[in-house]
Amino acid sequence: MKICVVGTGYVGLSLSALLSQKYHVIALDISKEKVDLINQGISPINDDELISYLNDKSLDLKATINNKEAYENADYIIVATPTNYDTEIGSFDTSNVEIVISDCIKLNPNSTIIIKSTVPLGFTDKMRRKYRKREIIFSPEFLRESKALYDNLYPSRIVVGDTTTKAIKFGEMLLACSKKSKSEKLLFNMSSKEAEAVKLFSNTFLAMRVAFFNELDSFSEINNISTEKIIDGVSSDPRIGNYYNNPSFGYGGYCLPKDTKQLLANFGEIPNNIIKAVVESNDTRKDFIVESIIKKKPKTVGVYRLIMKKGSDNYRESAVLDIVEKLLREKIEIIIYEPFIDEIKFKQIDIVSNLSDFISRSDLIVANRISSELKLVSNKVYSRDLFREN
Ligand SMILES: NC(=O)c1ccc[n+]([C@@H]2O[C@H](COP(=O)([O-])OP(=O)(O)OC[C@H]3O[C@@H](n4cnc5c(N)ncnc54)[C@H](O)[C@@H]3O)[C@@H](O)[C@H]2O)c1
Repeated sequence: MKICVVGTGYVGLSLSALLSQKYHVIALDISKEKVDLINQGISPINDDELISYLNDKSLDLKATINNKEAYENADYIIVATPTNYDTEIGSFDTSNVEIVISDCIKLNPNSTIIIKSTVPLGFTDKMRRKYRKREIIFSPEFLRESKALYDNLYPSRIVVGDTTTKAIKFGEMLLACSKKSKSEKLLFNMSSKEAEAVKLFSNTFLAMRVAFFNELDSFSEINNISTEKIIDGVSSDPRIGNYYNNPSFGYGGYCLPKDTKQLLANFGEIPNNIIKAVVESNDTRKDFIVESIIKKKPKTVGVYRLIMKKGSDNYRESAVLDIVEKLLREKIEIIIYEPFIDEIKFKQIDIVSNLSDFISRSDLIVANRISSELKLVSNKVYSRDLFREN
């Protein structure tokens, strides 16, 4: 069994590590830098399990930038390339996935293509019709960044968008490489269109939950009542649950903002209120946060970290970025503390690499997530991280 995984980001690399415990895996990427690191057993991603699996485990994994070497004779080709939301076309830009599918068909027409990238509803059927090939299957990925391999070792569920022998086998392979009990009912087979909907509705539900607790927090702040006490009281109902309820500046990260917009785009003329509101609520929340900051009349706002949450190794689509944009529009002076940025400027804003300098130059420190580093200056900090959780 040879498996080719295209894209060695959070999704592709974690699947490569997972599957190469039992199968021969070739991981293909356009980045030679990433490929070289992986072949040296170094994870390009800051993820505890990935770091340890690539370094210590005996995995049957090789990375390459050579399409032919990767695709030839592969039984399964897993596509895990980016699908960013394109505001001009009002949909995901699926060109990266389409290029890969077209190459697969040319170089290895008999392979089974598994799309792990998140795609618009109906995309897989469109590809099947275009290439007259049934073995193009969507299988959603549910991992969290910074826990990418962990979430594949302990999956909440494995969804595969077909009921053919090859589709069922693929789900069983993922399960066999996981650490979950094989008796748990984790495998769900359905059509690819249904699997695409599972992915978009799951992420939109998560975004809705974040947006709900953020609106509860805005309400409490204006009414001068305790958000903590209200959330504790609300969340102790087991139907609601005391988790994933810590207020923030907005939902962010690579997936929730774009997946909610894609689902809304797929709704089109279908009557809806909630889906639209989930998308709009995030912007309303950020406006509210900016107004709260302005009310404090700071001369210099210090933005503490651009990352979306603790443990993140990137700041893709982080809610803080929009806060920075909005503050800039209000002509507020800003400085940023973000150790991930080596440059001296970010969008013409000073990056202050020394934390003490950053603290002394800031009148108000704005932090989406608080860290112990700020403990001694808590009187200067504005945050909605009330439960110190992600
Ligand atoms: N990051 C997540 O938490 C997450 C979770 C579930 C689903 N997804 C979805 O999975 C997809 C990938 O996300 P990601 O976070 O792993 O992306 P990523 O940006 O971390 O990685 C993508 C990789 O693909 C490579 N690449 C781009 N074009 C390529 C091509 N033509 N051939 C070979 N390699 C190519 C890039 O160099 C990069 O290494 C997206 O559709 C995303 O929505 C992501």
